[in-house]
Amino acid sequence: TWTMVNIVDEQIERIRSEVGAKRVICALSGGVDSAVAGALVQRAVGDQLTCVFVDHGLLRKGEAEQVEKDFVASTGAALKVVDAQERFLSALAGVTDPEEKRKIIGREFIRVFEQAAREVVAEGGEADEDVEFLVQGTLYPDVVESGGGTGTANIKSHHNVGGLPDDLQFSLVEPLRELFKDEVRRVGEELGLPAEMVWRQPFPGPGLGIRIIGEVTRDRLDVLREADAIAREELSRAGLDRDIWQCPVVLLADVRSVGVQGDGRTYGHPVVLRPVSSEDAMTADWSRVPYDVLATISNRITNEVREINRVTLDITSKPPGTIEWE
Ligand code: XMP
Repeated sequence: TWTMVNIVDEQIERIRSEVGAKRVICALSGGVDSAVAGALVQRAVGDQLTCVFVDHGLLRKGEAEQVEKDFVASTGAALKVVDAQERFLSALAGVTDPEEKRKIIGREFIRVFEQAAREVVAEGGEADEDVEFLVQGTLYPDVVESGGGTGTANIKSHHNVGGLPDDLQFSLVEPLRELFKDEVRRVGEELGLPAEMVWRQPFPGPGLGIRIIGEVTRDRLDVLREADAIAREELSRAGLDRDIWQCPVVLLADVRSVGVQGDGRTYGHPVVLRPVSSEDAMTADWSRVPYDVLATISNRITNEVREINRVTLDITSKPPGTIEWE
């Protein structure tokens, strides 16, 4: 639309004048915001931009591939991929406290990203001590929720890419700072990003790590990833992507219940479906997903994911519940 073209043009101009001839780094999280921010900056300054993707192993099914193939194909951006799965798993071993998980994931992310950024800067060669720029996919609600002058309480330690060490001397480029999520998506479409990427549900920085209640292990991640993929597939198939803000699937990894399958007793784990509708994630209501769709999701998950024998539905609004369980 006309407005989106305006926003895109205006941001491209702004980014160009801000960045000049200097180099820019963008951390892609796999999510919508960083992808759109990266695509905008790529459009503005081309190969002055290098994107860095830290694969922490806490992503949804197919997400890493989407960044590595579809994002690169549709934007032409230079991408550096760091496989840090082992590192994150060892850092998270034995940890069950939600805030501790968030801190560990945030800290490890910064360490890995910092290392990658140094490599990018070094590979860039000649530029003499130029200040480098860092792209952040900060949205308007993030600015507000993280207390951008409004004095809101910090409920969870939100992790985007922040708090980088001083000696890296990045200035921030935040081209989405004035936008809401739906505007970001339309900008993404305008820039030619794949619809799957643009219309994907919001996903927290700490990823599946905060959707496993209990310790995060590789096996549990695999189980949750399968269940989550089924829920997303069925919600999309039912045409609900644009009605539902997001539907976290939460694995209650330390809870077991007795079930029966075939002729056998099972003793498996429950998952919780958490479909919510929202404008900006500050408040949310639980979504009235049609029973048939819920039934299909439940049947498929319990049939296709051996470790899960029960599917439950979270019917709490925000407040008092938050969207994520941790
Ligand atoms: P809550 O659980 O606080 O979540 O109701 C509100 C929205 O924020 C997402 N979320 C995060 N996003 N880093 C992010 O970038 C985070 O650490 C984080 N924690 C929650 C959540 O998915 C929901 O959309």
